[in-house]
Amino acid sequence: MQLSTIYAPIQEDLVKVENELESVSKVGFSWLAELLNYSLSNSGKGIRPALTLLSGKFYHYNLDTILPMATAVEVLHIATLVHDDAIDKSSVRRGKPTLYKLWGEDKAVLLGDYLFAKAGELTATTQNLRAIKLFAQTLRTISTGELAQTFTAFNLEQTYEQYIQRISHKTAALFVLATESGGALSEAPEQSIKILNEYGYNLGIAFQIVDDILDFVGTEKELGKPVGSDLIQGTLTLPAMLLLERFPKDNPVREIFQNGDKDKNIKLAIELVRNSSIVEDCYRIASDYCAKACRNLNLLPDNASRQALKDLADYVVSRKR
Ligand code: IPE
Ligand code: IPE
Ligand code: MG
Ligand code: MG
Repeated sequence: MQLSTIYAPIQEDLVKVENELESVSKVGFSWLAELLNYSLSNSGKGIRPALTLLSGKFYHYNLDTILPMATAVEVLHIATLVHDDAIDKSSVRRGKPTLYKLWGEDKAVLLGDYLFAKAGELTATTQNLRAIKLFAQTLRTISTGELAQTFTAFNLEQTYEQYIQRISHKTAALFVLATESGGALSEAPEQSIKILNEYGYNLGIAFQIVDDILDFVGTEKELGKPVGSDLIQGTLTLPAMLLLERFPKDNPVREIFQNGDKDKNIKLAIELVRNSSIVEDCYRIASDYCAKACRNLNLLPDNASRQALKDLADYVVSRKR
């Protein structure tokens, strides 16, 4: 199913999020406006703000608070991408040159900071203490995950549990912010907020596992960002872990991480992953997380958004971008 079909119950309000993003770029300094406009003009999938809007649809949907929250979630996401690309020295994002590539590291770091602050400000306009607290915790958790990734780069001795913890911090936390804030702002009962939280967490894990698979089997054209970059960065992802396990001797991942010929071994690693059951095995794990995400959704009120959340879980494991 296409994303635009899944988003149908909230399509109108998602357009309003885009308009809000546009107004974030409207500032008095032309040099800042240019950077903001470049990073916020939307061509991303919009999954996180969609999650906030959908999660807000089960009880008292209030656009006055849900709209700034959904916008905050996307601004926070974009800020992490701006920083991530500077850290990774990555040249393409969403099919365009990265901010880092065009303006350099200093501007990317500082604009990322600006966007984090802006996201906090937008969250504060909800005047919902739970959402505000969750926002701050989420930013701290994402930073912890990104730090863990840099500290464990090129380390071959990592467990599956450490991998899941790392991606739960760097990715799933933001999905939880998206869903839980939607629940809290719509005055959902505690049990429903818990279901939305569990959905966000498991969907986020599945989403990152699929991102890590696509880094091996996707194309830059479809993804709008480079492939093979996790190995270059020394990030040990699930497909790479399974590859290490299956070929304990003469392993290209080991070679890359231990200063062997990078280009040759990245090609080899990608080829080995593609020609083994590793892709399938990773997808099975991602699907299990999606199933877990959806297991209690039927306890929420029955409406179009509930179906959309289920469809989104299917989308996450079939997406090509
Ligand atoms: C990219 O997220 C960062 C990850 C957590 C893997 P998306 O794939 O949702 O990025 P956009 O917003 O669609 O560009
Ligand atoms: C990104 O993970 C998670 C963030 C917190 C930004 P990735 O490093 O896999 O994201 P991409 O592949 O660059 O989009
Ligand atoms: Mg990256
Ligand atoms: Mg990635």
